[in-house]
Amino acid sequence: MDENKREELLDIIKDLNGYLFYLKEMGIEYIPIKAEARDERQETGINSPSLVTEPALSLSKGHLSPNISPSSEESLQLLKEEIGDCRRCKLYKGRTQIVFGVGNPKAGLVFVGEAPGRDEDLQGEPFVGDAGQLLTKIIESMGIKRQDVYIANVVKCRPPNNRNPEQDEIESCEPFLIKQLAIIKPKIICALGTFAAQTLLKTKEKISLLRGNFYFYHDIKVMPTFHPAYLLRNPGDKRLVWEDMKKIMKELNLKGRLNG
Ligand code: URA
Repeated sequence: MDENKREELLDIIKDLNGYLFYLKEMGIEYIPIKAEARDERQETGINSPSLVTEPALSLSKGHLSPNISPSSEESLQLLKEEIGDCRRCKLYKGRTQIVFGVGNPKAGLVFVGEAPGRDEDLQGEPFVGDAGQLLTKIIESMGIKRQDVYIANVVKCRPPNNRNPEQDEIESCEPFLIKQLAIIKPKIICALGTFAAQTLLKTKEKISLLRGNFYFYHDIKVMPTFHPAYLLRNPGDKRLVWEDMKKIMKELNLKGRLNG
């Protein structure tokens, strides 16, 4: 085989390795491999460890070379591309743009909200309106910056007139939140408000009862708390949210700006 062809094939294998790593991040442990793949390998003479296992390819047993696996940032970018110009639910009709998520792809703390509002829909970033400004203040009072955490929503397109997301919309969009969390692997998720808490914890329990306690989403601790938009209407409950943030700060060894 000539050198150019060989180089080309090695590039393809590199890309494939990246894709397989991405699948693994998504929780897909095995994929079937066709017998022809094995035969082609014999022809090309390239022994890619990620292509040779049969009858199924295990993605969790060291077949992937770590130095060419995509970073969390790259995996999030791939996920964004997978969402594409999403029309999986009816919300695409009224959106300006999809609001994917923002922040540190390796954040130890992820905030999950409900759905983009008008400002988020226009700017393409979660929590940038009034509620978002309050969230930023809450984050800063924990002694960290907005860029240190990751912020996403359960639903990535704005519901018309900011109505609550409907069940079918949540179900269409939730897989992408699950994948975001699988890529970022935070230590703690802070679920902001009813929809985030109920979606992540698969419960119908009220946020007022859920808040203030840690639960588990897979092996990640989840702290449900009141949504910042609720706090704008009920500022007296900011005190309770601060109690919840202190519990998160303790888990993450954060000192906070306001001395405990
Ligand atoms: N409310 C949310 O739940 N998410 C946003 O991004 C903005 C407001």
